[in-house]
Amino acid sequence: MKSVGKRKTIIVLFLSTIALYECGRANIARPHLHVFSHRAANRGIPDKSSDPQHLADNPLCPASICFLSIGDFGVGTEAQAKVARQMGNYAEKYGAAFVLGLGDNFYGSGVRSTNDPQWESKFESVYTHNALRNIPWYMSIGDHDHLQSPLAQVEYTKDSSRWRMYDLYYSKHIYFTGKSSKGFSLQLVVTDSVGLEGDVATGPASRRWPEIIEHDPTANKAAGARQFAWLQDVLPKSTADWLIVAGHRPILTGGKRSRTDSEQAFMTRMKGICGQHNVSLYINGHDHTAQHLVDEAGVNYIVNGLGGYDVHGVHALPETRWNATDFHGFALHMLSHDRMEVKWVDSSGNVVGHINIPRRSH
Ligand SMILES: *[C@@H]1O[C@H](CO)[C@@H](O)[C@H](O)[C@H]1NC(C)=O
Ligand SMILES: *[C@@H]1O[C@H](CO)[C@@H](O)[C@H](O)[C@H]1NC(C)=O
Repeated sequence: MKSVGKRKTIIVLFLSTIALYECGRANIARPHLHVFSHRAANRGIPDKSSDPQHLADNPLCPASICFLSIGDFGVGTEAQAKVARQMGNYAEKYGAAFVLGLGDNFYGSGVRSTNDPQWESKFESVYTHNALRNIPWYMSIGDHDHLQSPLAQVEYTKDSSRWRMYDLYYSKHIYFTGKSSKGFSLQLVVTDSVGLEGDVATGPASRRWPEIIEHDPTANKAAGARQFAWLQDVLPKSTADWLIVAGHRPILTGGKRSRTDSEQAFMTRMKGICGQHNVSLYINGHDHTAQHLVDEAGVNYIVNGLGGYDVHGVHALPETRWNATDFHGFALHMLSHDRMEVKWVDSSGNVVGHINIPRRSH
C-alpha cells in the first residue's frame, strides 16, 4: 500500500512537472523578455551570459585569439555546405576559439520549436567538423529568424553543447591571459536588430513583414525600448579592451537592397550610439556582401552575410575601405591586444579580402 501511494505521488509530481513545463512553453510567446529569462533559468537553460570564456596561448593562432564569423547561412544547400567545410578546415588550422553568428540562422522563416527538423538539416548536419563542434557558437537572431519562434533559438542553448544564444540579446566576456602577449579582454555585445527596431518604428506598416512583426511581442515598442535601455547601460559600463557589438542588420552599408523607413531609423540611432561609446567594431549580416567601412567617429563596420544564401550587389560609399560580393564564405578574425586582422575566405578556401582594424579606447 505504502509503495503504491509513493508511486502515485511520483506520477502526480511527474505529470505536474510536465504540465508546468508545457505551461512555460506556452508562455514564451508573451511579451516580457526578462520574465522569459527567469522562466528559462527555471527550466534549466544555463544563463552563462555573464560567465566568461578564458583563453590561453594558442600556438596555431598567429595572434592571441582566432575566431570565425558567419552570417545568413541557414539554407540547407550545397553552397552552405561548401562554406561549412572550409570553416572546419580554417577552425582546425587556426585553432578557432569560437564562432560568432550574425543571424538568419534558418531560412525562410526561422524555426518553430527546439524540435524543428531544420536544427538537423541546416545546422547540426552541416557544421560537422570537430573543430566546429567543440567550440561555442555565439549566435545572433536575424529577421528571418523572427518569423516563427525566435525564443526557440534561445531555448536550444539548453539542448546544445555549442549553440549559445543566452537570450535574444546578451553580453559575453572573453579574456586572453596567455604569455605570448599582453593580456586583454573582449566584450561581445550581441543585439537583436528586429527587437531594437521596435522602438524606432513609426508603425507596423513601416517595417519588413508588417503582418507578422505586428504580432511579435519580442519586437514591439516596449521590447525595443527595453533593449535600447539595456544597450545604453552595458556600453558605457564596459571596461573591456575590445568592445565589439554584433547584430544582424547593418548600421552602415553599401549593400544594394531595399530598406524600410524603420530600418533607416534603426541605422541612424545605432550609428550615434556606437560613435558615442567608442565601439571598436560593429559586425553584422543581412546584406549578403562583404564590406569594411569606417565612419567619421572612427567606428569600424564589418558586413559579413555570405554564409550560403544568394548574394546581393554592393557599391562603395565614401566610408568604404573594402567591399566584395559574388562569393560565399566566412571571415577569420585574428585578434591581438591592439589590432584585429580579418581575412575573408571563400567556399574554395581562398583568401579574397584582408583588412586591419585598430582598437579604440573607450
Ligand atoms: C566595391 O565593390 C564594387 C563592386 O564590386 C567595386 O567596383 C569597387 O571597386 C569596390 N570598392 C572597394 C573599395 O573595394
Ligand atoms: C572616445 O574616444 C575619444 C578619443 O580617443 C576620447 O576622447 C573619449 O573620451 C572617448 N569616449 C568614451 C565614451 O570613452
